[in-house]
Amino acid sequence: MGIHILSLCYLIASVTFILGLKMLSHPTTARKGNLVAALGMAISIFGTIFLFEHKADGGTSHLHNLPLIFVALILGSVIGFISAKKIQMTAMPEMVSLFNGMGGACAMLISVIEFYHYQHTATESADGFLRLSEELSTLSVLAIISGLVIGSVSFAGSIIAWGKLRGVIKDTVFKGQRIVNMVLLIVILVAVIAMVAITPAISTISESGTFLYINTLHINLFYGILALSLIYGVLFVFPIGGADMPVVISLLNSFTGVAAACAGFVYNNQAMLTGGILVGAAGTLLTILMCKAMNRSLLNVIVGSFGANAAGASASTDQGQFKEIGLSDSAMVMSYAKKVMIVPGYGLAVAQAQHICHELETILEEKGVEVKYAIHPVAGRMPGHMNVLLAEADVNYEKLLEMEQANDEFKTCDVVLILGANDVVNPAAKKDPASPIYGMPILEVEIAKMVIVNKRSMKPGYAGIENELFFQPKTSMLFGDAKKVLQDLCGEIKSI
Ligand code: TAP
Repeated sequence: MGIHILSLCYLIASVTFILGLKMLSHPTTARKGNLVAALGMAISIFGTIFLFEHKADGGTSHLHNLPLIFVALILGSVIGFISAKKIQMTAMPEMVSLFNGMGGACAMLISVIEFYHYQHTATESADGFLRLSEELSTLSVLAIISGLVIGSVSFAGSIIAWGKLRGVIKDTVFKGQRIVNMVLLIVILVAVIAMVAITPAISTISESGTFLYINTLHINLFYGILALSLIYGVLFVFPIGGADMPVVISLLNSFTGVAAACAGFVYNNQAMLTGGILVGAAGTLLTILMCKAMNRSLLNVIVGSFGANAAGASASTDQGQFKEIGLSDSAMVMSYAKKVMIVPGYGLAVAQAQHICHELETILEEKGVEVKYAIHPVAGRMPGHMNVLLAEADVNYEKLLEMEQANDEFKTCDVVLILGANDVVNPAAKKDPASPIYGMPILEVEIAKMVIVNKRSMKPGYAGIENELFFQPKTSMLFGDAKKVLQDLCGEIKSI
């Protein structure tokens, strides 16, 4: 009976994961989607704790170690809740990376524990081979090893990515690193094939069923694969430019999903299997979409070290003179404009200026100015960064234009106000084939009547390159921290 209710719990959980994911794709339903999926996860966790039955030796046993399980649940929930509440929006990729690493570690530990369990419940046979439980098929061995490899790579890689984003680990490239990585990957694959191929070769079909046998070679191979996969995870992420971490984290996230799906297969747990497949598929799609929006291949991200030399690249060609604009002049032109388009970027997130930005929008609208936002798909440092930031400040979602819509509307704008954005408005992406961002679709702000750029200095953005836009006759620079500038600008506009 319990087992049927448990299957129903897993079915409900799987449906809530799919619904939650669907709801996450729109800002107005995203919060609810998160809660719906979390509810499904809670149902499957408590269902497993209270309803799971294991039939062995003619009897039925339930989960043991309940006090330990509840201590871990409470600890994990409290740590997760506090860190999610305290985290700054700009540090979100860091947290995602750390949490993803924990997922990878879980998948890795499940494989280690399952292998250890089968090894220690095996019966010894005469020629030094251990006869494994009848439950274990070649496919289960493959799932255990795949979970081990993918989970370990994801865990080690995510921790390095987290360290890079925190600034405690620097990009580390040594001569021949790519070859070392390639050799390591080949050695791991050969070891996995050996492990899976040798095991069934010595399986026997006896009267009581089909059994797999392992010996010391398999056990050594297993722990060797674990060590090599952890080293590979570290070396895989080490050379990737710190700024490319969001793409790598999304890729590692898809790895964790696949590893969790492998664990779901090992445990014959439908909720884990569905959840893992969804995370794997969503992570893969997100990685592809991010690369597309930056017009870069995944290979280029992995071996490119893009943006790692930002300081060096900034000292590039002489673009001529730029023009500055003061607060009162900016306030004047915006107050008398018919239509103002705001282009938010990473700097707005750094300055935490989303609330005051919304206030500027309200003040301008009270003066009869039409205000909209142009959102570039990779503005900021994570997918949907600007959408989340502006939603936090209660900006009406209808006012947010996607890149294509915004590019159609710039020609009707009197003023474009760029707040801490740089690469996503850099014309070099269209004009300069030698530029590292050449081919990346951009917000074509130049076609508006006037462009005001707010940033703190003439320093480059993420790609580490100069921006010709800042030197064009239509453009005026309004220097300062976005929050401070917007506060002063609101004061000026109110007094007009
Ligand atoms: P960036 O090109 O990184 O430019 C941000 C600008 O904000 C900087 O030039 C900086 O100039 C300015 N800034 C920083 N702090 C500020 C503050 N407190 N007040 C005002 N300005 C401030 O940002 P973007 O235009 O949003 O482009 C995003 C970049 O990240 C793209 O190259 C994209 O490919 C990359 N990327 C995005 C993602 C996703 S998924 N969003 C993932 C990986 C990579 P100052 O230092 O002079 O102030």
